[in-house]
Amino acid sequence: MCSLSNKRIIVGVTGGIAAYKSAEIVRRLQDRGADVRVVMTPGAEEFIRPLTMQALSGYPVHSGLLDEKAEAGMGHIELARWADLLLIAPATADFMATMVHGKADSLLAAIYLATPALVAVAPAMNQGMWRHPASLDNVEKLSQRGVTIIGPDSGIQACGDTGPGRMEQPDTIIEQASGMFSTGLLQGKKVVITAGPTREALDPVRYISNHSSGKMGYALATAAADAGADVILISGPVNLLVPDRCQHISVVSANDMLVASLECAKTADIFIATAAVADYRAVSISENKIKSDDKVLTINFEKNPDIIRTVAAAHKSAFMVGFAAESTDVENYAKGKLKTKALDAIIANDISRSDIGFNSDDNEVSWIDADSSITFSKRSKAQLSRDLIAQIAGKYNDQH
Ligand code: C5P
Repeated sequence: MCSLSNKRIIVGVTGGIAAYKSAEIVRRLQDRGADVRVVMTPGAEEFIRPLTMQALSGYPVHSGLLDEKAEAGMGHIELARWADLLLIAPATADFMATMVHGKADSLLAAIYLATPALVAVAPAMNQGMWRHPASLDNVEKLSQRGVTIIGPDSGIQACGDTGPGRMEQPDTIIEQASGMFSTGLLQGKKVVITAGPTREALDPVRYISNHSSGKMGYALATAAADAGADVILISGPVNLLVPDRCQHISVVSANDMLVASLECAKTADIFIATAAVADYRAVSISENKIKSDDKVLTINFEKNPDIIRTVAAAHKSAFMVGFAAESTDVENYAKGKLKTKALDAIIANDISRSDIGFNSDDNEVSWIDADSSITFSKRSKAQLSRDLIAQIAGKYNDQH
């Protein structure tokens, strides 16, 4: 089963008697390592107090769409971007109708419309309401739009009726929700990813490097593993936990990264270079600590190898994906690199913006290949990674 560690989940609670079970869902998602926020509709607050959900999740509950204080904290668009999964449990007949019609009359409905995240609903209603053609139509429409429908269960209902419409059990909901992350799109494929910065030594204690956090590469590694790939993550020094189910190779310099990349790429189906490789290294590394007596210090640098270019030339069968961090004329420079490095695709991002890219949790990128250019609007790096892995898998499969 897919891990929920570090997955960001919004539990949306709407106004049905099953709302009390949402408390257990929040608890169990957290036990599985997820980072959970709760959004309640006004109707839900009639069934369960926000305080209960706040105490369980450890965060204030979001409910008002026009609440200035809340919007100044994490507004509806930020919440929508933050999430990897929007899990609405229970989802009433009325709320599903709202979703189908694209209304944004509550915070939860607005988040549903704005989010690029995965969405699941666990319907809960009286059996007659569930059986009504309007409800069945709505469920069908949501399903066609990519919403995962979990349940409902069948049995004795709170109103005394017996039949389908009871919310699924929390265990089943969590099982199915976590399964949504494992797409199987890259089942059995070997994916090699470079990530983080490289460090180029100057002397035994000093080095030059850059601000790369490694977040994008690590998020891609998680998404590729979720998609069923065998992942090797070749990483420079970063402060991140190694994602579950990934083989991790720790390197320091560009040369180390090149050696590991060439070796691992021999059998790779897909090679993704997110690493911010230092462009230059010192011509010679001082054996002893460089003294700081001189007013001006001169160090000669030489160009580092271009890792992805070298790998692309050596292993022509691998599908090669590069990244291009640009601050001006982003698309043109990226297109140039696509050609000179002989890549199958390049993912360009604008590093002149402080709200995305380096060190940020969010990113907005353009995917560029020989015959298409697609913009992936701003979203969490985790969500973006899932979307990029789906894009890579699609293109890879077209070619094979
Ligand atoms: O040339 P530039 O650094 O902008 O190219 C970016 C892409 O090339 C990224 O995918 C990066 O990981 C890769 N690269 C590399 N080796 C280098 C420099 C960049 O693999 N020495």
